[in-house]
Amino acid sequence: MQEKINELINEINSFIANDFKDAEEFRLKFLSKNGKVSLLFDEFKEVAAEQKKTLGKPLNELKNLAQNRLNEFQEQFAKTVEKETSGNDYTLPGDSYQTGGRHPLSLVRNQIIEIFNKIGFSVADGPEIEDDWHNFSALNFPKEHPARDMQDTFFVEENWALRTHTSSIQIRVMEKQKPPLRLLAPGRVYRNEAISARAHCQFHQVEGFYINKKVSFADLKQTLLYFSKEMFGAQTKIRLRPSFFPFTEPSAEMDISCMFCNQTGCNICKQSGWVEILGCGMIDPDVLKNCNIDPDEYSGFAFGMGIERITMLKYKINDLRLFFENDIQFLKQFSKTI
Ligand code: DAH
Repeated sequence: MQEKINELINEINSFIANDFKDAEEFRLKFLSKNGKVSLLFDEFKEVAAEQKKTLGKPLNELKNLAQNRLNEFQEQFAKTVEKETSGNDYTLPGDSYQTGGRHPLSLVRNQIIEIFNKIGFSVADGPEIEDDWHNFSALNFPKEHPARDMQDTFFVEENWALRTHTSSIQIRVMEKQKPPLRLLAPGRVYRNEAISARAHCQFHQVEGFYINKKVSFADLKQTLLYFSKEMFGAQTKIRLRPSFFPFTEPSAEMDISCMFCNQTGCNICKQSGWVEILGCGMIDPDVLKNCNIDPDEYSGFAFGMGIERITMLKYKINDLRLFFENDIQFLKQFSKTI
């Protein structure tokens, strides 16, 4: 038996483990229930009592040797696992990366569309290069009207220009569809103006119009009051001032109560307590006729607003040029409001 013990000592000492699998093989070979060391212990039970005295000690030493080797192997392997994974803690949150955001003008345009969607307005589109008929003539602009002047309008060629307003879309829709019509037409418009904090050669408008039997100015007023409260808060008041547009009769400009000073007077409202946000009116019967809609049967209202203006009031932005400069510092402020 002593011989067997010596053999096993050799075998254990010369065992080489390279990974955890080898360590496990070692454990099975020597220390498991049917392992060589365990079997030797079974044999030990059968030997004579005298021999037990001399064999007991080396046998226990053998077992300790095997157990220590196994511990070494396991520890060694556990360390390599630790090494391999250190720095790779998969439970950590991932690296954050910057996401883009919508442009403030798009945010506000979408909000305007959403507000009017709720009361049945759908969206219409039209071309940015427009002919004289849709941009001017059908909207009752007389031939000598100053808006047609080279100073205001970017002409592409004779009779064709970059649209100066989204009112042209009214005409395009009315020519193709019959009332009832309840539409919103957002889009980019162009005017030959010097660029400043308050003016730009390109900007955005939203046109809205409703044509049906017996549409009245009261419908217009209620629609615009609803819009103003949704856009600027329930406390918002509106005021309509008489004005003139060739394509509406009567025409008005609409102010809302100044949200900066609560009508106590400030720079934005020029101490008046009111800020202008849009033009509106009842669609001129001649415009309806131009699109083959009978003004004796139908009436309608229309309104048009600048998206830049609404956005500036909503976010307290004081320079129009910021919208077109793509300054990331400016745009970043809106990236969470997708
Ligand atoms: N088209 C006008 C402009 O660009 C805005 C406007 C005023 C549109 C009155 C309308 C309206 O539909 O009824 O200044």
